[in-house]
Amino acid sequence: MNEFLWSYSGFVAEHEGQREALCTLGNGYVATRGALAEAEADDRHYPGTYLAGVFNRITTNVEGREVTNESLVNAPNWLPLRFRALGGSWFSAEADTVESHDLELDLRRAVLTRKSRLRDSDGRTLSITERRFVSLSDPHLLAIESTFVPLDFSGPVQIESALDGTVQNTGVARYNDLGTDHLEHVQSHALDDDSMLLEVRTNDSGVAIAEGARTRVFDSRGERLPATATCEATERHVRMLMEIEAGEGREMIVEKVVSIYCSRDQGIYSPAVAATHAISVAEGFEELLQRHVRSWSNVWDRSRITLKGDVGHTARVLNLHIFHLLATVSKNTTEIDAGVPARGLHGEAYRGHIFWDELFIFPFLTLRVPELTRALLRYRARRLGRAREAAAAEGHEGAMFPWQSGSDGSEETQELHLNPKSGHWIPDASRLQRHINAAVVLNVWRYWQSTTDLEFMRFWGARMVLEIARFWASLATYNHALDRYEIKGVMGPDEFHEGYPDRDEPGLDNNAYTNVMAVWCLCRAFDVLEILPSTRRAELIETLGISDDELDRWGDISRKMRLCFHDDGILSQFEGYADLKELDWDSYRSRYDSIARLDRILEAEGDTPNAYKLAKQADTVMLFYVLSTDELGEIWERLGYELEPDALARNINYYEERTSHGSTLSMMVHAWLHSRLDREKSWSLFRSALESDINDVQGGTTREGIHMGAMAGTVDLIQRCYGGIETRRDVLYINPRLPEELHELAFGINYRRQNIRLEFSHDHILVRLSDDTGHEVPVAIDVLGEFVVLEPGDTFEMRLD
Ligand code: BGC
Repeated sequence: MNEFLWSYSGFVAEHEGQREALCTLGNGYVATRGALAEAEADDRHYPGTYLAGVFNRITTNVEGREVTNESLVNAPNWLPLRFRALGGSWFSAEADTVESHDLELDLRRAVLTRKSRLRDSDGRTLSITERRFVSLSDPHLLAIESTFVPLDFSGPVQIESALDGTVQNTGVARYNDLGTDHLEHVQSHALDDDSMLLEVRTNDSGVAIAEGARTRVFDSRGERLPATATCEATERHVRMLMEIEAGEGREMIVEKVVSIYCSRDQGIYSPAVAATHAISVAEGFEELLQRHVRSWSNVWDRSRITLKGDVGHTARVLNLHIFHLLATVSKNTTEIDAGVPARGLHGEAYRGHIFWDELFIFPFLTLRVPELTRALLRYRARRLGRAREAAAAEGHEGAMFPWQSGSDGSEETQELHLNPKSGHWIPDASRLQRHINAAVVLNVWRYWQSTTDLEFMRFWGARMVLEIARFWASLATYNHALDRYEIKGVMGPDEFHEGYPDRDEPGLDNNAYTNVMAVWCLCRAFDVLEILPSTRRAELIETLGISDDELDRWGDISRKMRLCFHDDGILSQFEGYADLKELDWDSYRSRYDSIARLDRILEAEGDTPNAYKLAKQADTVMLFYVLSTDELGEIWERLGYELEPDALARNINYYEERTSHGSTLSMMVHAWLHSRLDREKSWSLFRSALESDINDVQGGTTREGIHMGAMAGTVDLIQRCYGGIETRRDVLYINPRLPEELHELAFGINYRRQNIRLEFSHDHILVRLSDDTGHEVPVAIDVLGEFVVLEPGDTFEMRLD
């Protein structure tokens, strides 16, 4: 099995959407779904091209309420390229008889190849071999090359190559009542006899997007063939029609090279001028391809994870996950202001918004190319002002980052959502997930632990941590009777619980995950103040107006936060959880094919998940995922509670029975937790988590975009959980826990500017520091309790009995 090939054989119209998402090509600046070049958007096909960070807002009236939604914009489709015998119909997999159809995504080279043999209604047969890529080395260039052979006819063939700006955002059916048209026409015309230009603008945010396309025809020896070309330009659309004499069995190659720019780009005069220039100087397909492949090869050198054992399928899926992560975030992302959308740049679910999912996505990046995480953290830092405004608007101090973030850091969570099961529009309280702020601190802190990047901390990191600490302190209220602090009116990660069944206002009190993470954030705020050089510390304390009294209060809260328990030691998901009803799981399982989305089922039945002990995803047990046992133990002690040695086992067993795994993030977290209890179970949950997108386990949602958190999270599970890596207190802890099936595991990380090679098997551990970074400093390592300081070039080995 080739672990770097992802392929599909045969044309299955119903699977097109999912294949398109999984065959998306991207370079961190732009991504394009793997739609057929001849396809237009309909209920099966969805050509989508997304520029990282390009959003637009539309306001619609829903049930008498004006609702505004901000979406990542579907940019003009650059793919259209199709053929027909003059007078015949366009060859298309959908309309014609498909004699054969194969799709192959080469993960190593990031090239998508399609081979089809199509027969039109008049009985003509054409073979098409198409290759396409979205250049990693030249982020504004994309290319498609189609080699066609008329198998049983000769005569004039027409080739259509187009740039289509009439596209809308219709990739998610349940959003379609909320406005879908984001673009307006600017210009469309020919540039010369083989090139054309299309420029559109987003109709509210005013971002200009220009695409240039150059289409040329060659024979099999690479000689350019003369083709009569006409250009037809209309509003938001331009196409080049070419006519060429084709001969039976004779191969012709059509090459379409496309440039794409937008007005958010730096270093350009205007998108149209940049796109025109780029297309005029672009090399041919082959030259561009070689550079692109070289860049991917470098990227894979840093990112590759090698698995040995009977794990071929696992390795291939992990490579697919790494591939999509790298297609969404790359060096090109560091040049722009963008976050990582929860569904990648692969579709329109969640409208391209950025969530706490960063928490699952960053660790792989931080331990490979920390500059990427730095750039993504700066996306947050630029929006600190908005976060402060949001806190103030709710009567709080400090900074409150939004649950869903888009262009400017305003809260983008929808106000109403549609339950497709009942057809009802329902108020959406998920913005109350204030724990997103803990995720921001966690991401800053992990980045710091891995890099000790003081410049980042001084300029951006410390401020975010301190402002968020201040927010938590202001959100916490003191309960005199209990002598404890409480956080009320929030939601935890479990989105099924939005409030109490008998309370009108949404929100829950004392969510365990939120309260503990608030304490953890306050502790990190003190650490950050220690880290800063004294002058910067004094500056920040003065600028932010942090008084000694305030610091005392932070300390007090961090020692007296309230946690609720029930059933003799189970950490209650929130206060009052114990009073909720048990759900009759067996009855629901027998009545529904899938009960993952119990929220929709219960609402459609006129009931509410708020009334039951159930969860969409890991909530309380997220604590054991995010924090190590040592860290949790310290917090418990600080709070005056006792963390029983079997706390993990008891809590996971309790909550697992009550979790429907209605989020792809859930299974992966549970797999992680079981690695400490039951490796066999962990491995089986991990294998299920791997299926999220390739088998579309959340009922048809992959076509709307990949689940980036689950993809990155499964990769991280291999490196940090089974590899047992932890970066804490200036030490790189290594404590591998390989499942039986995994005989060997090897990968490289970048830690504190050192490249470190790690190799694990069931009886051996190897840690090797390279000496090629130019920043050679020793690294403190703890391997299974043995503390060593390794110098650059050193190798440490340990035999395991
Ligand atoms: C999950 C959230 C997640 C979001 C985006 C939801 O289904 O409940 O935890 O952040 O998807 O991936």
